[in-house]
Amino acid sequence: MILYFSATGNDKYVAKEISKKTGDELVPLRDLIRWSEYEINVSSGENFGVVMPTYFYGLPSILLDFLEKATINLKGNNYCFFVATYGRTYGNVLSSAKSAFRKLNVNFDSLFIARFVDNWAPVFNLRDEAQNKSDEANGEENTLKIVRSVFHKKKGIDYPDEISTDEFFKGREYYEKIRHTNGFSVDVNKCSSCGLCAKQCPLGVIEMEDGHPVWKKDKCTLCLGCYHRCPEHAIDFMKCSDNGQYTNIKVGLDN
Ligand SMILES: Cc1cc2nc3c(=O)[nH]c(=O)nc-3n(C[C@H](O)[C@H](O)[C@H](O)COP(=O)(O)O)c2cc1C
Ligand code: SF4
Ligand code: SF4
Repeated sequence: MILYFSATGNDKYVAKEISKKTGDELVPLRDLIRWSEYEINVSSGENFGVVMPTYFYGLPSILLDFLEKATINLKGNNYCFFVATYGRTYGNVLSSAKSAFRKLNVNFDSLFIARFVDNWAPVFNLRDEAQNKSDEANGEENTLKIVRSVFHKKKGIDYPDEISTDEFFKGREYYEKIRHTNGFSVDVNKCSSCGLCAKQCPLGVIEMEDGHPVWKKDKCTLCLGCYHRCPEHAIDFMKCSDNGQYTNIKVGLDN
């Protein structure tokens, strides 16, 4: 089983590539949350993989909140691995993953990183196609190596923390501070009322009112799925829309 979360496709790409080679079942975290399924059972001998994006040098809040409620039952002889995709600095995401899952008695045999396009539009210009192509090619190359290692159940692969604990906590504080939905807005003149943003939000934060999205909860995980995947580029977050949108074209995104 490969548990994954993906807003713009990079993690879905990695999870799918591994699954193609190993035959592991793909399990979107978004579906488990939608169905309120918090018990994960991994059969004897089955792989247990987790593929997640890096958010502010660590794990996305959507995963951390899920793990608070989850139980993971490994039935024995399970190869466990973790993959973090990232854009510029993976920070301390792997040690965060180790400690979060250790609490649920999951110890990863190997942990990997794959550098793709950085979809954090408030900072990075996603209109630079040459840069995107080169970052995607890098991610694909990293993925190929990960697929081989997972297929051969290689153990002991890990990468060190990139930043100090102080910097890590500062990043996490900033994440908490800005993941309020009042940073989002919609240009009603551009919005075609397709409803995709509401349908795709992993946390059911968005509701359509008078044909346009309204962010109904105060906080979200800030995956930026609503922003990047709006067909009309009608959504803004923290005045980032000049930086354009991004989705990984190698994968179909979840509905
Ligand atoms: C809220 C947020 C925070 C992010 N923080 C980081 C970060 O600290 N370091 C980094 O290298 N990339 C960061 N990124 C970029 C993503 O980790 C990267 O683009 C990832 O591959 C996106 O995965 P997805 O396409 O599966 O959604 C961040 C993206 C978002 C939306
Ligand atoms: S995805 Fe974009 S166009 Fe569609 S309803 Fe949402 S804001 Fe409007
Ligand atoms: S509101 Fe947008 S950014 Fe927040 S969780 Fe939903 S899709 Fe992701």
